[in-house]
Amino acid sequence: MKKLIDEISEVTAEAFRAAGYDPKYARVTISNRPDLCEYQCNGALAAAKEYHKAPLMIAEAVVEAMKKAAIFQSVDAVKPGFINIIADPGFVSSYLEKMRHDDRLSVDPAAHPETIVIDYGGPNVAKPLHVGHLRSAVIGESVKRMGRRLGHRVIGDVHLGDWGLQMGLIIAELAERKPNLPYFDESFTGEYPSEAPFTISELEEIYPTASKKSKEDDAFKEKALEATAQLQKGRRGYRALWKQIMNVSVTDLKKNYEKLNVSFDLWKGESDAQPYIGPMVEKMKKDGYAYEDQGALIVDVAEPDDQKEVPPCMILKSDGASLYTTTDLATIVQRVQDYHPDEIIYVVDKRQEMHFIQTFRCARKCGLVSPDLKFKFIGFGTMNGKDGKPFKTREGGVMRLETLIRDIDDEMYKKIVDNENRSSANEDARETAGTVGLSALKYGDLSNQASKDYVFDVDRFTSFEGNTGPYILYTIVRIKSILGKYRDQQAASQQAESDGAIISPAGDPEKKLMLQTARWNEALEDAWADYAPHRICAYIYELANDFNSFYHETKILSEKDEAKKESWISLIRLVKDVLEDAIDVLGFSAPDRM
Ligand code: ARG
Repeated sequence: MKKLIDEISEVTAEAFRAAGYDPKYARVTISNRPDLCEYQCNGALAAAKEYHKAPLMIAEAVVEAMKKAAIFQSVDAVKPGFINIIADPGFVSSYLEKMRHDDRLSVDPAAHPETIVIDYGGPNVAKPLHVGHLRSAVIGESVKRMGRRLGHRVIGDVHLGDWGLQMGLIIAELAERKPNLPYFDESFTGEYPSEAPFTISELEEIYPTASKKSKEDDAFKEKALEATAQLQKGRRGYRALWKQIMNVSVTDLKKNYEKLNVSFDLWKGESDAQPYIGPMVEKMKKDGYAYEDQGALIVDVAEPDDQKEVPPCMILKSDGASLYTTTDLATIVQRVQDYHPDEIIYVVDKRQEMHFIQTFRCARKCGLVSPDLKFKFIGFGTMNGKDGKPFKTREGGVMRLETLIRDIDDEMYKKIVDNENRSSANEDARETAGTVGLSALKYGDLSNQASKDYVFDVDRFTSFEGNTGPYILYTIVRIKSILGKYRDQQAASQQAESDGAIISPAGDPEKKLMLQTARWNEALEDAWADYAPHRICAYIYELANDFNSFYHETKILSEKDEAKKESWISLIRLVKDVLEDAIDVLGFSAPDRM
């Protein structure tokens, strides 16, 4: 469906043309003086320069022409040359009436759907997920859903860190603890056990122990490095052990992501890129882009206009080992080959920005991608505690994601059972607390601009008031409850549930609610243009506020005028559908009651 603001812009452009001015000046925006008008056009000010006329004169002439259109309640030219616009109430309600019957709720699919690979999550195998991984998962999932909602083909890849030193550390530590396992016996040719020699909790203990040991014990560190090299060269026993580590770890990761309502199409990792490295490096050398510098292989990626230094990309170290950048480049080769993407998006901590600048430039320079492939780095800031420092446990350790989720759910549970209005049983309360808790966690993150650091404040995020997930859910639940009561009313008087048309708004709060509802397609497209879920949050927060203002001054169910009541029911049902659509894009859902 055409956007409401575009319909207004087109009529305004027509008026500019009719008055003898270039329609390019007819850009209409949402009013920044909502006390005066709903929309505004400042084009006469710009046109004044071209036509050497007073802006107010131009505005007045355009307004004359605009007054002929039926879609405005009023248009005014005001000093120094603004055009203030108030939409006709019937025009707005008929827009909603169309929207209500559109199964895409007015959101058109992209005219040119793209194939997009989105790289997010990025957990490291065998290390527990910590809150640092939370942001990537939450933001990435929402960006993926946004793209899909607009009709793009978006492929989510978790891009596991599964090939680094952590693997060598675990192998070396296990070799010390359980030297008799067949994995360490080089002469062993039989089949390795199908069961892993550790559980997930053991694995999570083994890695930090080994990591600590390697910092204190050089001989141990040597062993770990050697084990990593052997693994990468393909030593049979180590590969088998690596597979066990992967299995145990990935099973646990999937469980955790499921709790977050995050899911990936691809569970590929750094290891999957390894076969692509050799041929890629050969090509880079052959084409003359990669050259040797003090034994290492590098590609220059600095550009003349660089404001800050962009160091060369190191492709191979002097001992021939590949690096993080090498793996990311080879992964690009693999993605291009397998999915032919138009765009690749990365959702990673903003401290890795330089790495991605180098990687993107190197991929372009060396011709690994076609010139029109787009790269996008969505760098996010740090999640801090109330003290402004990176979020930690009370004991000062790294907070595990599982613990964080549990803390929020407990807090939510307390609030829900404290809520006197609650009628449902306590078992339900647990489930509801999980659903509402997830909204608190995700909305708390997503409502901030991704690139900014933010303070994780459990009290604030779990509040039913203010700009929070629970407030949005509370609003949806309130609408569901009105609709439920309406259904009961109809049943009691043996009337069918009707499907009344949305008619012209009765008052200002109702019109405001209608206008905001009508902006859903605009809000989603704007958010997608900047890959910015926080814009969707801002949109639904305003929508929820507008609904609640309307609700507080309207007695919907006791309204005697049937047409009015039916219209309100249809309107609030539409508001609920939009809110639910939006939170689905954000990656959470609403319970039936709370
Ligand atoms: N595993 C990495 C980390 O924990 C993040 C991976 C991000 N994605 C990528 N393609 N480099 O820092």
